[in-house]
Amino acid sequence: MKINNKPYRAIWLKADEQRIVQIIDQRFLPHKLDIFDLKTLADSVFAIREMQVRGAPLIGATAAYGIYLALLEASQNIDLEEYIQQAAAQLMATRPTAVNLQWALERQLKAVATAATLAEKTAIALQTAQDICEEDVEICRKIGAYGLPLIEAISERKKGEAVHILTHCNAGWIATVDWGTATSPIYQAYNKGIDVHVWVDETRPRNQGARLTAWELGEHGVPHTVIVDNVGGHLMQHGMVDLCIVGTDRTTYTGDVANKIGTYLKALAAKDNDIPFYVALPSTTIDWKMCDGLAEIPIEERRAEEVTHLQGLHENELKKVLLTPPNSPAANYSFDVTPARLVTALITERGVCAASEEGIKGLFPEKTRQEI
Ligand code: MRU
Repeated sequence: MKINNKPYRAIWLKADEQRIVQIIDQRFLPHKLDIFDLKTLADSVFAIREMQVRGAPLIGATAAYGIYLALLEASQNIDLEEYIQQAAAQLMATRPTAVNLQWALERQLKAVATAATLAEKTAIALQTAQDICEEDVEICRKIGAYGLPLIEAISERKKGEAVHILTHCNAGWIATVDWGTATSPIYQAYNKGIDVHVWVDETRPRNQGARLTAWELGEHGVPHTVIVDNVGGHLMQHGMVDLCIVGTDRTTYTGDVANKIGTYLKALAAKDNDIPFYVALPSTTIDWKMCDGLAEIPIEERRAEEVTHLQGLHENELKKVLLTPPNSPAANYSFDVTPARLVTALITERGVCAASEEGIKGLFPEKTRQEI
């Protein structure tokens, strides 16, 4: 997608310098467009843990490049297998909820295991990371193509009046390599000339909606309005939301959806108001081992400081300010699980299906449920 009319991806190999991977440092958006160089395994671990990059597919892509960067740093006289396993373990420990991280690392480990020498392994790791990125772009484009008719149908029903879409967090192009998941149908509808308007949940505490989704929609020209997290129910009660589309960090093969904290409450409100609640996801976000989202999906708890403090722009400088009484403890659960029964359908790269084992199997018959 474009920033200031210039096409970007969320991660890429530096032109003419294959030893450097570049990312947009999302900690400073929307106020500062900072391109950051990842040169080492430690850089990649830091980038994921500290959320320079975030969003399930982009976390996976960064981890895949992390193995490549680790191999670039490796010396000849070491136990290479042990070294790679340790690098993967460090990346794996960065964030627990998005299953794309595990998926990308397993794919990388399998790929590099086919080579014997350090040079061969490094070349294969680079190729695999690049393949993961290219495939993600195409997957997200297809999610948009399958989601588009859902928006189109509402637009036709409303005789061309604006379709109001509510989204939570950032499942946009900067949460993936390009296009986004939840935003891909929106971008494709907008590109086709359909009148769309997006209600953007601010998404406390890190405000991915207010900072990132609003920014990227704005850069593309998509009409949107930022709302605080508790407004969605009110809008739905007053007929001001036509559909919800959100992303996910891990979806069980039975259709339970883990996504940014607050998603569940939006799904409840949507159900109560008969509003379709769609979840857009690449199949790389499906956990084929898990069947009970509430019991099994690990929920990340982050630093209390993200709740007690707010970051914003003041007199052209990024400032962090204290919001709460200094001694009040704060809890920071980062994700929740929306049970499959509240999800109208899943939008995937193979089509739209029911949020159920049968629905998912219908689109991905070659996938088998894995025993833990
Ligand atoms: O904590 P984050 O910002 O990584 O959480 C991101 C989300 O919850 C997204 O909705 C999800 O990863 C889907 S990204 C296409």
